[in-house]
Amino acid sequence: MPISYAVVGASRGIGLEYVRQLATHPDAVVFAIVRNKKGSFHLAAAVANLKNVHVFEADVVDHASMERAAKEVAAISGGKLDVLILNAGRMSGEAVWKGFKDYPNMDALDADCIDAFKINALGVVHGITAFLPLLRAGPTKKIAVLGTDGAIPNTVYALGLPDLSAYSMSKAAAMLATAKWALQLKDEGFTVVTLAPGLVDTTDTVGTSGDPTVKKILQDIDKNHPAFVLETPEQSVKVQLKIVDSLKPADNGGHFRSHPGNQA
Ligand SMILES: NC(=O)c1ccc[n+]([C@@H]2O[C@H](COP(=O)([O-])OP(=O)(O)OC[C@H]3O[C@@H](n4cnc5c(N)ncnc54)[C@H](OP(=O)(O)O)[C@@H]3O)[C@@H](O)[C@H]2O)c1
Repeated sequence: MPISYAVVGASRGIGLEYVRQLATHPDAVVFAIVRNKKGSFHLAAAVANLKNVHVFEADVVDHASMERAAKEVAAISGGKLDVLILNAGRMSGEAVWKGFKDYPNMDALDADCIDAFKINALGVVHGITAFLPLLRAGPTKKIAVLGTDGAIPNTVYALGLPDLSAYSMSKAAAMLATAKWALQLKDEGFTVVTLAPGLVDTTDTVGTSGDPTVKKILQDIDKNHPAFVLETPEQSVKVQLKIVDSLKPADNGGHFRSHPGNQA
């Protein structure tokens, strides 16, 4: 029996690597959901000759587009989906590293936080809502939402991470949204979890030439902070997929880390 996976936010970074690794399984059918198909050139190159990958467009802040994508998936999968990987996140670029002190005024801070909240937090609610009928129709009923220990208050305090404010606040809300869904779907046999991928260098798939500035920031964190171990998307997703494969209903509501020692 083929296993169907939808990866939301698959154009680059960790989402792209999920598609790459899943596509190597002969039994997997992979639905890669991207904001902009034409602009997803890293994905296009990776899946050019693959028959088990289908690419559809949707933006997690635009619910109508998510419902459209779910319908397109259903048309191929016979109305079912086994595993939903909600990876889309507003995370790239230097601006994501801002702390409260780094905004010119409160209006700018509000606008940035609201934008982050719409993608990172409400995007989880939109994504699960759109694909729920397909997941309910399938036997597997797994949802993994990409989270981060950088949104856990004790960890933020212990590691001394005052910045990444809009990102961390919105990811904290995403993890609560995931917990709410886990409770809501528990009696239907779902397994809904947060999966923290560790500190992953996804800068090589930013644009055509990567993002050397953020790469340097990540390498400095890796060098100066023993709690963080910088990994490649390949290394991180390999472990993440082992976790996804092993998930069972008793894990519902859990917070999983691809590497226990890695705090990102
Ligand atoms: N990398 C890390 O160290 C790390 C650590 C902890 C948690 N995470 C989490 O892991 C996930 C992936 O991170 P990453 O490092 O791979 O990020 P990334 O390289 O910046 O990729 C983000 C992905 O999300 C997509 N996306 C952004 N906004 C979207 C929207 N509104 N609708 C649909 N797709 C959207 C992007 O598409 P476009 O190409 O269209 O922008 C891209 O495919 C995120 O949820 C992040 O919070 C990452």
